[in-house]
Amino acid sequence: MFVATAIDATSKPALYAELADQARGLLHGERDRIANAANFAALAWHALPDINWCGFYFFDGSELVVGPFQGKPACVRIALGKGVCGAAAATRETQLVRDVNAFDGHIACDSASQSEIVVPLVDADGRLVGVWDVDSPRIARFDEEDRAGMETLCGVFLESLR
Ligand code: SME
Repeated sequence: MFVATAIDATSKPALYAELADQARGLLHGERDRIANAANFAALAWHALPDINWCGFYFFDGSELVVGPFQGKPACVRIALGKGVCGAAAATRETQLVRDVNAFDGHIACDSASQSEIVVPLVDADGRLVGVWDVDSPRIARFDEEDRAGMETLCGVFLESLR
């Protein structure tokens, strides 16, 4: 059985490196997208401080549809280009939003969310899989170290599906 050990990291890069290792172990040997997304979201939820939502939106060929997540119930469908998730999916670039109230078109699923990071998930063939969305109740919770760490982490998830 996989056991997620408490991460006692002294820096964000160290925390993400440890988290990526744990994610590799957790997803190893399984390719089912829902199973891996569910375990990935649970692992991140328990390891990352100061967050109130983390989870997936998957691209169904026309829009984003909510997938496995941790946190309060969320909006189900997001059109490409709408909100932070839609922007990440449309541009295929990570969106780092220090204050969601200042982001034009932000979709407020939980009024507690103040900042967020959304990483686009694109497979090896260049197809949009969806996005990984993490919200925080703290303004400017995420920085460039989170961007690098989350992108690496998402790489582990994408790798597990191959
Ligand atoms: N914040 C997102 C909507 C999804 S929820 O935060 C779970 C957005 O504006 O895209």
